Amino acid sequence: MKTTFISFLFCLILRTVVSDFFVNIDLVQFSNGAGFLANGFPCDPFSFANQQCNIKLKICVESINSASGIGTCSTGAYLDLGQVTTSNNSIAFTTNTWYGAWLNPYPIRLSDATFEGLQVKLIAQHVALTDYLLIDQFVWQIRDNSKSGNSSLSHTRDDAPDPTFLSLAWNAGSDIPAGGTTPGSPTGPPPPGDCYDIYQTSATDGPYTITLSDGTSVPVICDITGGGWTVIQSRADTTDFNKTFSEYENYFGTTSTSYWLGLKNMNTMTKSKQYSLKIDLCCGSSSKSETYTSFTIGDSSMKYTLTVNNGTGAAQDGLNKVAYSLIDNGAKFSTGDQWNNALFPIAGCTVYSGFGGWWFGSCQNNLNGKVYDPSAYAANTCQLTAPPNGPGLTWDSDALSNKARMKIIPTNGLPSFVDPELEQQQLAAFCSS
Ligand SMILES: *[C@@H]1O[C@H](CO)[C@@H](O)[C@H](O)[C@H]1NC(C)=O
Ligand SMILES: *[C@@H]1O[C@H](CO)[C@@H](O)[C@H](O)[C@H]1NC(C)=O
Ligand SMILES: *[C@@H]1O[C@H](CO)[C@@H](O)[C@H](O)[C@H]1NC(C)=O
Ligand SMILES: *[C@@H]1O[C@H](CO)[C@@H](O)[C@H](O)[C@H]1NC(C)=O
Repeated sequence: MKTTFISFLFCLILRTVVSDFFVNIDLVQFSNGAGFLANGFPCDPFSFANQQCNIKLKICVESINSASGIGTCSTGAYLDLGQVTTSNNSIAFTTNTWYGAWLNPYPIRLSDATFEGLQVKLIAQHVALTDYLLIDQFVWQIRDNSKSGNSSLSHTRDDAPDPTFLSLAWNAGSDIPAGGTTPGSPTGPPPPGDCYDIYQTSATDGPYTITLSDGTSVPVICDITGGGWTVIQSRADTTDFNKTFSEYENYFGTTSTSYWLGLKNMNTMTKSKQYSLKIDLCCGSSSKSETYTSFTIGDSSMKYTLTVNNGTGAAQDGLNKVAYSLIDNGAKFSTGDQWNNALFPIAGCTVYSGFGGWWFGSCQNNLNGKVYDPSAYAANTCQLTAPPNGPGLTWDSDALSNKARMKIIPTNGLPSFVDPELEQQQLAAFCSS
């Protein structure tokens, strides 16, 4: 039995000067035993006998009430400790040493009248060339009324064969106010990484915040009744999607209107787990869907290439629709300011028409096109009566829609059966919203 072992020692020295606190956190040791990632794979697939990780750490420490401190855990602004090991699953930290932006022990001043203890979050990743793969993340709260403590935490990970282990010691110059929880107790599993995590404990569709493996927190709509799908693109109103390539790299929009998760975030998610994609299209209150059991977005050096398998569903396999021997499956992402399709010139790609970016291969689909006012469509057809410019939301060259969304789920969580009636109700709720 291989044991992943993560061990830390924190020393906190806390002094109260009215509402001013001074804290030293001393990292002592970190180790990841036999070297497994959160997804259950070894860090290095070729080191069968002794898998080893190149460990990178990020940390944030904030006051529980106000998020003052270093980094802001809720927005994912972590302090970067850099790559702390190379081909080694553990590190012994030394004092008076810099690890990236972290001086060990790290002095933190908190000025906060409502101070109620500390929250420490740490993300451990394995660095593989330009990829950062999640090893584990920790959330730890210290709420106590004593001056020191020394605890350890064993952490069972979703898919890894063995638990992680974290140990922490702290000293305070004065009491840390009691916050109501057990001193030094762990606060449970890491924050949800997608809507499938949320589906395990919630039964309600709607907006939630998910925290990706790189620490980025983003607001998304969760389709919980469908089995825990994370909506990564939603065209639910006429929000303008005519944006630049760099805007498409990041999150834009809002969950109460329309939004785009961002190409970087899609890459982060789909490289940490195998995901499946489902596309929902609306024409008025009627709907069609298409499912791809495998969905991956490449990184920036690949211009966020789209890779799917063959689709199934009533909406037709638009992503594998061939035109002039070209398909969107395997295409790079393109926008008006950055056209990455050498074989199909922008001028011939009528589904672009100056509107949203897409993985333009065949130029037969664009779910980021312009959304027109419903009065522009002939009743029940979603054919534009007089397209002012551009063909609107396009799928499979001619299946036009006035609402669309893309959603993903871990492939191992793909529901084997979805009650068609329940699904229709759920889709109707989106299509007529
Ligand atoms: C790996 O790290 C541990 C703990 O810091 C150290 O004892 C060991 O010598 C390191 N091994 C290598 C090969 O660097
Ligand atoms: C915490 O535990 C470690 C290891 O058992 C020990 O070396 C250290 O002195 C302890 N610290 C405190 C503050 O109790
Ligand atoms: C989809 O199916 C067709 C026909 O069976 C096959 O030629 C093609 O390679 C498949 N594409 C993918 C991406 O699996
Ligand atoms: C899209 O945005 C660009 C840059 O702002 C602008 O030049 C262009 O006219 C817009 N296209 C349409 C169809 O609105």
